[in-house]
Amino acid sequence: MFQPQDKDKLIEMYESLSSDAVRWGMPPYTRERLEEGWFRNLQNITAIAAFHGDKIVGHAQIFKFPHSRRKGTADLLTYIHQDFQGVGLGTAMLARLIELAKKEGLHRIGLQVVVDNKPAIHLYQKMGFKVEGVMKDAYFGGDGKYHDMLVMGLLLE
Ligand SMILES: CC(C)(COP(=O)(O)OP(=O)(O)OC[C@H]1O[C@@H](n2cnc3c(N)ncnc32)[C@H](O)[C@@H]1OP(=O)(O)O)[C@@H](O)C(=O)NCCC(=O)NCCS
Repeated sequence: MFQPQDKDKLIEMYESLSSDAVRWGMPPYTRERLEEGWFRNLQNITAIAAFHGDKIVGHAQIFKFPHSRRKGTADLLTYIHQDFQGVGLGTAMLARLIELAKKEGLHRIGLQVVVDNKPAIHLYQKMGFKVEGVMKDAYFGGDGKYHDMLVMGLLLE
């Protein structure tokens, strides 16, 4: 489990991501943005981190929507440091996070992903997520072009 005292290590990981690793994400991942967003909402987040020695090299979290009309539903985010991609870490972390979400009694995990992000889509489908829809031109890439995004979801019960 990610502990609040590991915050600085997590920020270090995000600040050391290559431009390729954040290509389909929402950069920049600076301390200010992470503190404004995630670290202010820790009560609604279940997060896990992967360590290599003392460093965080992978992060996966679900944000649980606090409104009663969205009870039991959450959004997923996964980032593996570029030096540790492709060795099964994303698979292992998502399996663990889904297990934790089931233990918490959650009903649904959703996410949005740019259609060009093939490794991520492959991983989500492997973990049982289904494509539920397409958001046309919803993402403005670093290439100066609009890209479609997929809405994906996993029902847990
Ligand atoms: C997407 C991401 C989380 C995957 O994590 P990972 O640890 O590299 O994934 P794994 O090593 O567990 O491999 C997952 C699968 O993707 C496959 N894969 C790798 N590159 C691929 C590619 N270019 N196209 C299709 N599949 C690919 C792997 O072969 C593996 O499949 P398999 O288990 O069936 O052999 C990681 O690449 C990442 O952090 N990317 C940058 C951040 C990002 O875009 N996050 C998602 C935002 S929505």
